Amino acid sequence: MSQRVPHWTTYLRNTALHKECLLSLVIRSFPYSSAMAQSADRARSADIPRSADSAQSADMVFASKNLVEKYVTYRPCPPESLVRRVLDFLKEKPGPLDLCMDVGCGSSQNTKLYAALFNKVVGVDVSQDQLEAARVTCPLSHVTFVEGSAEQLPASDASVDLITCCAAVHWFDLPKFYAEVDRVLRPGGVLACYGYRGCTPVFNGKSLRSEFMELWDDLGPYWSEGHKHLRSEHSSLPPCYPEDVMLWSQDSGMIVETEDTLENVLGYIASWSAFAKFQKTEGKEAAGNFLERARRRLSEAMESEKGGKLVRQYHYFLRMWRKPHA
Ligand SMILES: C[S@@+](CC[C@H](N)C(=O)[O-])C[C@H]1O[C@@H](n2cnc3c(N)ncnc32)[C@H](O)[C@@H]1O
Repeated sequence: MSQRVPHWTTYLRNTALHKECLLSLVIRSFPYSSAMAQSADRARSADIPRSADSAQSADMVFASKNLVEKYVTYRPCPPESLVRRVLDFLKEKPGPLDLCMDVGCGSSQNTKLYAALFNKVVGVDVSQDQLEAARVTCPLSHVTFVEGSAEQLPASDASVDLITCCAAVHWFDLPKFYAEVDRVLRPGGVLACYGYRGCTPVFNGKSLRSEFMELWDDLGPYWSEGHKHLRSEHSSLPPCYPEDVMLWSQDSGMIVETEDTLENVLGYIASWSAFAKFQKTEGKEAAGNFLERARRRLSEAMESEKGGKLVRQYHYFLRMWRKPHA
């Protein structure tokens, strides 16, 4: 039987960034399931709304504990090279880095990478369940997780040096979010939005990208309108400020690679919001059948599940803007 290895343990092996900080997170993350199990259950609406474009509907999509656990287990942390790119852009001149705000922080996959670099880091999310998980996976006193929305950021005017959004900006109401970014960023501050091209399974050097994208396309109607921004690698986002830096996944060299199992690739697929919506609408049996079909399609492409090396690759893209000084 395959073993589920949390992705950040592999990440840890591959990066020197914040080694000590992350090591403590890895060690302290194992009680996650029991801590989550102990937390009080809250009543949830049974219906997923048709449109997932508002903070309210996004909260409902991401609100199930089941999905949050999949996030913790299967979602990648961005690579060190990406964090460096963002910091290089932010740091026009030497000086302390005071406040970083990670919006749509989920269960802290991205937030924790900034912990060693800023005096204070705030993760913001509309989902209480994601925040609960984040507090367990990133238990550092100068990192706080706050319930709030991208459209109403919990920060005072001109107080934030860096706003990050990892795999999240496609959920936001952009005009409202950009207005809030402009209110809370200090002059010269940076908004950095990034994400990754889904996952690319590679078996014995052979890319299974097309099989993987067929599975993505099979869930077509269940992807939210905003997912077009992920497909365009954020090139379709309206510009926030004139100073605009864009790195495409194929050029960025920002890749996270995890040696893996077919089970884990399927687990990653099961963490998709579109899969959660499909399951909510079509039922558990249909969702189980979808994963079974996915298993068959990927196993056929791999010819055999045994005797080969499977890796999951995440190719990151990045777009960032600087708020003008005057
Ligand atoms: C795909 S997850 C990404 C989580 C994490 N940043 C990562 O890198 O995996 C998107 C997150 O954005 C949150 N979210 C969606 N709409 C939001 C909004 N309007 N304001 C704040 N958070 C939002 C969701 O609850 C979810 O945790």
